[in-house]
Amino acid sequence: MQSWLPFPESASTLSGEVDALYLYLCGVTLFFTLLIYGVLIYFVIRYRRRNPSEIPRPIEGSTKLETLWSVIPLLIAMTFFVWGAKIYFAQYRPANNALEVYVVGKQWMWKFQHATGQREINELHVPVGQKVKLIMTTEDVIHDVFIPAFRIKVDVVPGKYTTEWFEATKPGRYNFFCAEYCGMNHSGMRGYVEVMEPTEYENWLSGNAGQASPAAAGRELYESLGCVSCHGANAEGGRGPALIGVYGSKVVLSGGPGVVADEGYVRESILNPQAKLVTGFGPIMPSFQGQISEEQLLQVVAYIKSLSTAKPENPTAKPPPPTAGASAKPTASPKK
Ligand code: CUA
Repeated sequence: MQSWLPFPESASTLSGEVDALYLYLCGVTLFFTLLIYGVLIYFVIRYRRRNPSEIPRPIEGSTKLETLWSVIPLLIAMTFFVWGAKIYFAQYRPANNALEVYVVGKQWMWKFQHATGQREINELHVPVGQKVKLIMTTEDVIHDVFIPAFRIKVDVVPGKYTTEWFEATKPGRYNFFCAEYCGMNHSGMRGYVEVMEPTEYENWLSGNAGQASPAAAGRELYESLGCVSCHGANAEGGRGPALIGVYGSKVVLSGGPGVVADEGYVRESILNPQAKLVTGFGPIMPSFQGQISEEQLLQVVAYIKSLSTAKPENPTAKPPPPTAGASAKPTASPKK
């Protein structure tokens, strides 16, 4: 933004607005500081005691004045609130149609995986002018992904997924940091976001191709862990709900309200299947806690997402056809 201000570089669609709000807060603060001290100094001089016997006129107070000095600050404070809430919702509501990147933090490094399979450590390549959504978790303690140039900062918490998104507005290399004290090498837990022109990014992707996409790796896990024997494409056997189209939909739970099947719900259903039982199914699924790493869990989640027609994001994942009838290829035949 203003290059004469000691701000970090401004390189996302939201950073200009965050800076503007910050400057507005500073401006209002400065204005009232000067006003209060100015009036204070003026009154001290103007109404000073001029001779020792002087006694001031008694003042009973003024309702009009008191109402004014309550209502005006309230209105000013509400501008902070409304503007801040607007930016907050823009920033923390997950973005649609975003490029998804899976992030796993651990003492003391950041591991990234793109939806097309490319892996990176402490470096993240993204295209300019496109929304990028980070789906984040950690293998150990709490970390925090802080990218000053994009004005975003979100904790990465053990046992759950958090997300943040940005849309970079200019190519370049931007620092990111871990912003939650996480042990001895916390300060070294950092890296760069490399924002590239779209064609350059495509070249980078194809130059690093050849790794299985998270969804494809997830499908293999899904089969090797035996999930398929209960969660067949069309709920064969009736032991578990069918998973096609589940991601992003509303799931009806037994004895309770429904829940939207997001990444967090899928994760919980794998690690703690009894927590939210789908109506009509018994508590028979074993927990996979301890049998699957955070990265593998993300891959299974990516696979289950790829089964949802609402979000066809993985050209390489080849999800089975969503309709009933012809038993879908990859998940139809139980392997064990
Ligand atoms: Cu990770 Cu601080």
